[in-house]
Amino acid sequence: MNNDSIYLPRAATIKNINRFTELENLFEITLDDGNPLGHKPGQFVEVSIMGIGEAPISVSSSPTQSQTFELCVRRVGNVTNAMHRLKKGDKVGIRGPFGIGFDTEFLKDKDILFICGGLGIVPLRSLINYVFEHRADYRKVTILYGCKAPHELLFTNEVTAWGQRKDTELHLTVDAVPEGEHWNYNVGVITTLIPKVDFDINTTYAVVCGPPIMYKFVIKSLKERDLPDDHIILSLERRMKCGVGKCGHCQINGIYVCQDGPVFNYTEIKDLQEAL
Ligand SMILES: Cc1cc2nc3c(=O)[nH]c(=O)nc-3n(C[C@H](O)[C@H](O)[C@H](O)COP(=O)(O)OP(=O)(O)OC[C@H]3O[C@@H](n4cnc5c(N)ncnc54)[C@H](O)[C@@H]3O)c2cc1C
Ligand code: FES
Repeated sequence: MNNDSIYLPRAATIKNINRFTELENLFEITLDDGNPLGHKPGQFVEVSIMGIGEAPISVSSSPTQSQTFELCVRRVGNVTNAMHRLKKGDKVGIRGPFGIGFDTEFLKDKDILFICGGLGIVPLRSLINYVFEHRADYRKVTILYGCKAPHELLFTNEVTAWGQRKDTELHLTVDAVPEGEHWNYNVGVITTLIPKVDFDINTTYAVVCGPPIMYKFVIKSLKERDLPDDHIILSLERRMKCGVGKCGHCQINGIYVCQDGPVFNYTEIKDLQEAL
């Protein structure tokens, strides 16, 4: 980062908007100073809309894509609804990248079991695509991706392409199939997939991101398969404001999720009462 103040956003321009669902858009953004964002998979930025406010959003593109970066935004409130009203060419402010992302070096030569629930696919997609771009560095890749219903699936074309790769195992699930929707895959919450996949507990690292409710059930299912605690890597979401360890909004006991995370090894947080 080359800002004088950690609170000063850099001007950025929306290059493209891809409408995914009723609620989620993918924004392709470039920094006006011409520099790459320089993020690691799992890091986030604070996006600001003039006169509205700021919100933390995970970077969804791989760092290998350096001229632009992508944010997948679900509209839920002030900032995210304002973002959805923007058009190609409009400006946003960007602070960051912030936080500790996934350790791509540590994961080398390991088997990776990705467990993505709902919007959890957004930060994990950055790591998944990074791994595919450096495929020879990583061993077996298994992706479990679950949503509430088929129409909520994000990155559908990309997910289809992941499933067609010979070097990857992809399992999809939805909680339920509403009338009129088609679905050829598993039906049930994401934990119903865990007993169906084959993995070696000595070489596999599970990388998990999803809604808060998902974590304790996924961890329980992984523990039932005897995966060691330190083989579980989680990306947590907490209410954030400053994004840089100053305001205390994201604090869990002594940990600041914005600075010490959002990516944690399970062993770091399993004894923190409010973490999971
Ligand atoms: C590290 C991190 C990464 C994130 N990545 C993404 C991402 O990639 N894509 C994305 O769409 N969202 C992401 N979020 C969530 C996003 O930051 C919030 O939804 C956003 O702050 C809402 O801002 P807003 O001004 O639109 O909503 P507000 O007007 O602030 O709130 C709207 C409603 O949503 C609720 N709300 C606000 N923030 C949260 C929250 N963090 N958790 C639960 N409920 C909340 C409020 O209580 C209110 O009901 C991320 C959050 C964090 C902390
Ligand atoms: S968001 Fe301010 S301390 Fe983490």
